[in-house]
Amino acid sequence: MIIPLTHGENISEEEKYNQERTPYFDALKDYIESGITTYHVPGHIQGKGAHPEFRDFVKKYGLEADVSQVLGLDDIHQPGTVVKEAQDLAAKAYGADKTYFLINGSSSGNHAMILTVLNPGDKIIIPRNMHRSTTGALIMSGAVPIYVDPAYDYDMQVDHAVTVDTLREALENNPDVKAVMVLSPTYYGAACNLKEIVDLVHSFDKPILVDEAWGPHFHFHPSLPMSATEAGADMCVNSTHKLVGGMCQASMIHVKGERIDKGRLEAVIRMFLSTSPSCLMVASLDMARMNMATNGRQLLDKALELAEWARNEINKVPGLKSYGYEMVGRSGVHGFDGTKLNFTAKDLGYTGYEVEQILRKQYNLQIEMSDLFNCLALITVGHDEKDVQLLVDACRDVANWDRAHVTLSQLQLFYRRKDRPMELPDWPRQVMTPREAFVAEHETIDIKESGGRICAEMITPYPPGIPILRPGDEITDDIVDHISVEIEAGVHIQGAADSTLKTIRVVKNI
Ligand SMILES: Cc1ncc(COP(=O)(O)O)c(C=O)c1O
Repeated sequence: MIIPLTHGENISEEEKYNQERTPYFDALKDYIESGITTYHVPGHIQGKGAHPEFRDFVKKYGLEADVSQVLGLDDIHQPGTVVKEAQDLAAKAYGADKTYFLINGSSSGNHAMILTVLNPGDKIIIPRNMHRSTTGALIMSGAVPIYVDPAYDYDMQVDHAVTVDTLREALENNPDVKAVMVLSPTYYGAACNLKEIVDLVHSFDKPILVDEAWGPHFHFHPSLPMSATEAGADMCVNSTHKLVGGMCQASMIHVKGERIDKGRLEAVIRMFLSTSPSCLMVASLDMARMNMATNGRQLLDKALELAEWARNEINKVPGLKSYGYEMVGRSGVHGFDGTKLNFTAKDLGYTGYEVEQILRKQYNLQIEMSDLFNCLALITVGHDEKDVQLLVDACRDVANWDRAHVTLSQLQLFYRRKDRPMELPDWPRQVMTPREAFVAEHETIDIKESGGRICAEMITPYPPGIPILRPGDEITDDIVDHISVEIEAGVHIQGAADSTLKTIRVVKNI
């Protein structure tokens, strides 16, 4: 069955507001009932990778189990009994001193980490390719980012992690920073040399915070990169829902050592917590931890094996390329998460966006994300041989297509437009802090006229969720050009007041 990707375009105004319509629910129902095969978060993959007892429980009780805090189920805001026990078990499993359950994703975890450690005006060293939630936290905290560039991969055309040398230089040049934050692993699975980075940052007597949203499984398999807790990071966030069986939005913060004020962290976490937490989500965190702690090695063996098989098969297809362990050793890639299945058909003239659309519309397969060049599928503890075979067969099929099937090769368009090597634009210069620019008086101008102005909003291709412009950045013509190419190629952009991005908010000239 080919699923409609659009709903409700051709209906009359009267019908549009017919209160019997349920457009969102209908779209969800279509999605699930289409029999789609998924390679995206949540990593339990429609329940297949959740612990069998939890899966059966949810199936049996459904909405009956949708309860919030009641007597006997503890208080996630002030855990004292069963939530505390579950968090303590999670801390033990991850080698942390203390673990906190989150029900608003690692986004709230990044908010909480930054707001715990930084006051207005405090400086933090932070790579440019951090998730947009860290920018939100910088706006809320009033902290001052000292941006450092991640390593750029000219072959894949993606940013990897930040290097030890880059951070050392930043620490030496900015002795007054309050903390350092890194992203490891990246969306595409590149992990930094976390052990050396932790030792380096601690040698300057500063705390190191790690956005490890994509690494909740690292602690449970020796072939995966070292986990942040094992490396000794002071605080990290894990999206349990992304890869190890938690329900959407279920995440954890782990804390180690004495550099973090846990009282302040708990107060901040409470600020971002709903007062009606979903007990199902909390239970999914408990069950995901149990599943990983008792069975993780075996489950991850299988996922790693399946992903490696898929990489090898894709690499046999002329014109396709899947990046794997050979990336280790490139700048910014100290380790690689072998469960990430990256692939590209750029040599056949396809953008990643096109391939994602084709896989969805023609093969009923939904991958995690695409960018201008690459696609990313997650192979998790919820997949079996058949799922992975389906994806590989579809990729092989697409590579063998007659190109006339595709109306326009956006990537070829991109090649033709550019008189310089095909690569992403340089990161912009920071002129104001994110908070200063966000609260400053702004004006809305034509984006084509915005080169040289200071951005007052966050422009984020989503996924991967890394802002290409943050409040306070000086807009460049290269970035404006790149945004227009991305839009033409079909990117989904979040954050701009004008969703068409014909205009942009900039700080008002005074
Ligand atoms: C690197 C990174 N950090 C944080 C987040 C936010 O995680 P969540 O979706 O759990 O809020 C994401 C989301 O994709 C991410 O990619």
